[in-house]
Amino acid sequence: MKEMIKRLVEAYGPSGHESTIGAIISEMVRPHVDELHTDALGNIIALKRGTGSGHAIMVASHMDEIGLVVTWVDEKGFLRFAATGGVSPVTLVGGRVRFANGTLGVIGWERWMRPDAGTRRPEMDELYIDVGATSRETCPVGVGDACGFVRPYEEFGTRLVAKSMDDRIACAIAIEVLAGIGSSPHDLYFVFTTQEEVGTRGALTAAYGIEPTVGIALDVTMVGDTPKARPMAVSLGEGPAIKVMDSGMLAHPGVVRWMITTAEAAGIPCQREVLLGGSTDARAIQTSRAGVPAGCISIPCRYVHTPSEMVDFGDVEHSVALLKALLTGPIAL
Ligand code: CO
Ligand code: ZN
Repeated sequence: MKEMIKRLVEAYGPSGHESTIGAIISEMVRPHVDELHTDALGNIIALKRGTGSGHAIMVASHMDEIGLVVTWVDEKGFLRFAATGGVSPVTLVGGRVRFANGTLGVIGWERWMRPDAGTRRPEMDELYIDVGATSRETCPVGVGDACGFVRPYEEFGTRLVAKSMDDRIACAIAIEVLAGIGSSPHDLYFVFTTQEEVGTRGALTAAYGIEPTVGIALDVTMVGDTPKARPMAVSLGEGPAIKVMDSGMLAHPGVVRWMITTAEAAGIPCQREVLLGGSTDARAIQTSRAGVPAGCISIPCRYVHTPSEMVDFGDVEHSVALLKALLTGPIAL
């Protein structure tokens, strides 16, 4: 599974530019599903048909990653940019990025090493990308081109570190479940969604098209176990977090109960998550059409939306086990 995780997290795929990562995921899931298609927004929708009159369950994990889009190229070939998704300038200075055509860049800060920078934090409009160009004419990328972070996947013991654990770790969990699940009474729609980081847009249209009777998002969540973190009852290594609430949704109470009782019955450790910032594809599923009972299994993650997101492999394995148990058993909400 770690090989697959490495391949997924290192792939390029900022929001709106998911075709490369989509092709990798399609290749991985194709042997395990009955139907596979890509919709108008680029969502990969994989159906594994159920054996009986079960539910239609949509399992969403997003393929896109936070990124930067070029807004201006100056006469010397330096690029100004805007963010797609929640990117803080604090995470950027000295970082490296890669564009779809392979062009690499380093992020510079106008005030770097200047005495008047003092203790100021960088602002987005003081940053630029240096791709090694010497003029606008010879710059290999232009306005509208998008880049993602470059950072190798690393293992620190049981901790896995990479860019884009949000949300490729969930893509890996979904693929691992699909590969090992056997038969289920339910029709399982595994959706690898696009444009989550800019407002859960892919999940919105996918859910409308699929019309699921139950929705589950898989995504990372923040933790409270680092020095001076905002108090939060989620830690790395204590199992998947079952979302009760975040700033965009209240999970369906029946879905929360189903997840917790299934974890307890299977002896899988889990935590309860109340997240005060951010939301997931579960919100889009829940509010699609006339409404869908939905919840979210969250993978605890440190340093979310930085180039070095950290998860625990035990949590990953327990998330696989929990999702498998949920998708193969009866559902009473
Ligand atoms: Co995110
Ligand atoms: Zn995410």
